[in-house]
Amino acid sequence: MDKTEIKKGIYWVGAIDWDIRNFHGYLTPRGTTYNAFLILDEKIVLVDTVKHYTFDQMLARIKAVIDPAKIDYILSNHVEMDHSGCLPRMLEHAPNAKVITSTQGEKGLKRHFKCDWDFHVVKSGEELKIGRRTLHFIHTPMVHWPDSMVTYVPEEKLLLSSDAFGQHIATSERFDDEVGWDILKEQAGSYYANIVLPYGDQTKKALDALSGLDIEMICPDHGVVWRKFIPQILAEYSKWATHETEKRAVIIYDSMWGSTEKMAFSLSEGLEESGVRVNMRNLKVTHISDAIADVLYAKGVFIGSPTLNNGYLPTIGAFLTYMKGLRPRNRIGFAFGSYGWGGQSVGDIEKVINDLKWDLPVEGVKINYIPDAKELDMMKETGKRLGNLIKD
Ligand code: FEO
Repeated sequence: MDKTEIKKGIYWVGAIDWDIRNFHGYLTPRGTTYNAFLILDEKIVLVDTVKHYTFDQMLARIKAVIDPAKIDYILSNHVEMDHSGCLPRMLEHAPNAKVITSTQGEKGLKRHFKCDWDFHVVKSGEELKIGRRTLHFIHTPMVHWPDSMVTYVPEEKLLLSSDAFGQHIATSERFDDEVGWDILKEQAGSYYANIVLPYGDQTKKALDALSGLDIEMICPDHGVVWRKFIPQILAEYSKWATHETEKRAVIIYDSMWGSTEKMAFSLSEGLEESGVRVNMRNLKVTHISDAIADVLYAKGVFIGSPTLNNGYLPTIGAFLTYMKGLRPRNRIGFAFGSYGWGGQSVGDIEKVINDLKWDLPVEGVKINYIPDAKELDMMKETGKRLGNLIKD
């Protein structure tokens, strides 16, 4: 089984999940990896494990380097089971290993595995000498769970970053420069939008804590290792954590008989004429986890639904529920939709936009049954108006 020596005496021993297409509700068309790393020093340290059904992959890679019984420590940077799911089985192969984790990590692991392992609980800022190298632990709560921490190895200028800076991408390449920035930016952005977005403040704190470190390599728990595009990914995280957007728009909509769709396209014409780029996301064919990736970048987020049974369409409801949980901030919102009678969808969408505390500078538009040419012109003018507000 292949293992990659990412630095002298430090090996990638993770697992590639080529087939996964849905990661707790987030579509992962490129699959993913669960990364684990083996550090050979006076003490031998396994950093994180992998998702339960990929255990044999990890074990085979470890065995290609050393006898697993020689492992002294298993470092659990994060309790979520894509990284801890194999801990019980790994401990059977490494019976003398202590489990290094945070206080919240110990609590979480005990709740997940009903275990009484030999824990070595570390505080933020604490260090552990493992021979020539040092493990420096930095707690990063809520990036992605309360237990999350990252580990810095100063002698190697290496950051073991857990979920932070991850990308869901299955690849036999292990390094960023072997895949390319464009693909990685897209995947890292989608990952941030779907997983880390609610925790912008905590991500900002984590970035501040890391800012003084001399980093030559970042090893996240998903996707490739960063060695070439470190300034680029840090800059993107800095923008995402502060909810900085681009002067562009996304129109997220669904339609029953085509009227709301006509409104959406007239709106997009107006936006285009104002010089603002716009993505059209029809939820009949676009998954909510792809639509939210557009929201990460767009200053203007415009949502359209006809009224069905006194509310919005279920597709729009699913998207709004998802977005409410992910809590993007500082956007310009707008709601629109057609109706036959009642017409509650627009007001209901606006309630969600208000809950998110976005600007709502233009009153929502609802059109009875089928829009006529004049009404479509009005939608186009609304698009121009919103476009100008985005450009301000
Ligand atoms: Fe990749 Fe929060 O686990």
